[in-house]
Amino acid sequence: MMSKKIEITLTTQKKDKPDYNKLGFGRYFTDHMFVMDYHTDKGWYDPRIVPYEPISLSPSSMVFHYGQAVFEGMKAYRTEKGQVLLFRPDKNLSRLNTSNERLDIPAVDETFVIDAIKKLITVDKEWVPTAEGQSLYIRPFIIATEPYLGVRPSSEYKLIVILSPVGSYYGDQLKPVKIYVEDDYVRSVKGGVGFTKTSGNYAASLKAQTEAEKVGYAQVLWLDGVEKKYVEEVGSMNIFFKIDGEVVTPALNGSILAGVTRDSVINLLKHWGVPVSEKKIAIEDIYEASKAGKLEEVFGTGTAAVISPVGELKWEDHVMNVNKGEIGTISQKLYDAITGIQSGKIKDEFGWTTD
Ligand code: COI
Repeated sequence: MMSKKIEITLTTQKKDKPDYNKLGFGRYFTDHMFVMDYHTDKGWYDPRIVPYEPISLSPSSMVFHYGQAVFEGMKAYRTEKGQVLLFRPDKNLSRLNTSNERLDIPAVDETFVIDAIKKLITVDKEWVPTAEGQSLYIRPFIIATEPYLGVRPSSEYKLIVILSPVGSYYGDQLKPVKIYVEDDYVRSVKGGVGFTKTSGNYAASLKAQTEAEKVGYAQVLWLDGVEKKYVEEVGSMNIFFKIDGEVVTPALNGSILAGVTRDSVINLLKHWGVPVSEKKIAIEDIYEASKAGKLEEVFGTGTAAVISPVGELKWEDHVMNVNKGEIGTISQKLYDAITGIQSGKIKDEFGWTTD
């Protein structure tokens, strides 16, 4: 049985804080990290908070060869009263175990890890930003560390949690982006790992992203991996469309990640009485709606960007302009509501925040 006591070793050399007006996303890291090891004979053991520093791994560690790695992303906010709030960490930890299960990585104790994250944030509390649009991004990840080159699940792992004070993901918060509908590369197929947050999904997306950028687009819109007819995700986010007054998003089908922001958006829209449904969405139907002047808003949702409005979609040789390239009313309202709840400025009627 693992000892539940978390050993804490504080740094003797605190780092200088970066300029919080120029944080960007994921470039700076706090003074400490949480680490816990796993061995088949011991289970998860030795949970500890230690100074943030490089880790030493054998070059034969399995993660480097066969990519057995999963991660999560969530955010903490400091309220006006100085309290630090986490947003729906239970959803992230349960998804981490969903990813673990698919990648054949041993499950973690979700409550214990949430508690460890809270302790880590308390240790590095002075790093939590206070300004509007800023937050502390929390990145838990698990890697296979057994030094072995045979192809099978590792018998050793490391879970690490690092913290990064962040500003907005795309620089200019809520600036509508241009999206290229990818009809060559695919992100995932049903039966694969698309519903998990495993590193390989992101590695597989990079080439399409680079090619889209070369022709002036910020991200790609992924279509299904079989027929290339149905919409799946946008970049590393979930996607929503508002068509003729109704908001729709692709139904979870095994190849789409169950985003926490996606779920929060669906709940908020239902709460506001805005019609919303999860279904199979053909790109052809989006094009038809656009031609008929009924494509009112398009936006991506994710922890990093929260809401990312889309101002233009390019599919084959069709260019679809969305809301004249401006931020839509629902996109703005969702962004304000979610960040308001996250930062404690708006009453949390859903019980999503925890300190
Ligand atoms: C998110 O939207 O939070 C993501 O998944 C992007 C992240 C990998 C930086």
